[in-house]
Amino acid sequence: MAGGPGDDPELPAGRPSGLIGKEIAGYRVEGEIGRGGMAVVYRALDLRLDRTVALKLLAPELARNDTFRKRFAHESRVAASIDHPHIVPVFEAGETEGVLYIAMRYVAGQDLVALLDREGPLPPVKAGRIAVQVASALDAAHAHDLVHRDVKPGNILVAEGTDRDHPEHVYLTDFGLTKKSLSLTGFTTVGEFVGTLDYVAPEQISGKPVDGRCDVYSLACVVFETLVGAPPFRRDTDWAVLWAQQYDPPPPLSEVRPGLPDAADAVFAKALAKSPEERYGTCLEFVAALRAALTGGGAGPDVPRGPEPLGPPRDPPSWARPVFRVL
Ligand SMILES: Nc1ncnc2c1ncn2[C@@H]1O[C@H](COP(=O)(O)OP(=O)(O)OP(=O)(O)O)[C@@H](O)[C@H]1O
Ligand SMILES: [Mg+2]
Repeated sequence: MAGGPGDDPELPAGRPSGLIGKEIAGYRVEGEIGRGGMAVVYRALDLRLDRTVALKLLAPELARNDTFRKRFAHESRVAASIDHPHIVPVFEAGETEGVLYIAMRYVAGQDLVALLDREGPLPPVKAGRIAVQVASALDAAHAHDLVHRDVKPGNILVAEGTDRDHPEHVYLTDFGLTKKSLSLTGFTTVGEFVGTLDYVAPEQISGKPVDGRCDVYSLACVVFETLVGAPPFRRDTDWAVLWAQQYDPPPPLSEVRPGLPDAADAVFAKALAKSPEERYGTCLEFVAALRAALTGGGAGPDVPRGPEPLGPPRDPPSWARPVFRVL
């Protein structure tokens, strides 16, 4: 159909997309939020429910790739079934006019790329607060046998938190939507772009079967970056990064950012082990070990605590007190 998203020659590279103001699958496109190598994300209005959503339109060539389509359908269904406070809720996923789309919660905030650009390396306490939220999202996904495969700062959205104890609320997005693993394992010839290789686990590169431990590795790369400002393996070319991910030991954190305790080096060495068997079994285990190392073994002031014990019930406000009338 003329004028549909599949006809947009500008998607995903280039701008403007020309879709602003158009209606796609029951959503009115209002503005562009951001774009990656294989999709454009728009702020859009769900016309049925009159609510703002983030509408992700995948590059039309991906809809033509059978492997990708199958995985897209499967993984969007699984992602939509996970109800977790740190996973962006997927409202709908489908195909319209030759374009795969996902409608999800619109997260008002910024991604971790923008946050790190703005704030540079984060204080360990803040890095820990962000890490634990992403880790809990990943462990929940793994419990559903869903491996993210593309944990990176662009897929971590940071919104305002609820109170002073929780200054940021972090969401993980884009489950299984990576083109990287397909390209690296030779399943696809879709386009040239494979995205950043800074967070990809050795077993993904060599095309071995992956499980949740590849996300432990990628999360460790991301957390390393939040602490020092760059991921562990910075090289001049993609080939050199691929080589380093597979064979080079990670640089000790305490050398890259003097002042951080040596104890954290061993934690990253384990989380970034080349062999998945040698890594932490879960993401939360990694983050707990890291926080203990960064705070000198103690739990630290920012480790989430259980709910405060409830004191005796307080008196209700005057307007809520029972009214007794003498009849
Ligand atoms: N649900 C959302 N709410 C608000 N902003 C979002 C949402 N999902 C994505 N974004 C924004 O849109 C940007 C583009 O997302 P997209 O997934 O297309 O690219 P990416 O993750 O940066 O790169 P890649 O193509 O390699 O996955 C994100 O970086 C993020 O800032
Ligand atoms: Mg993304």
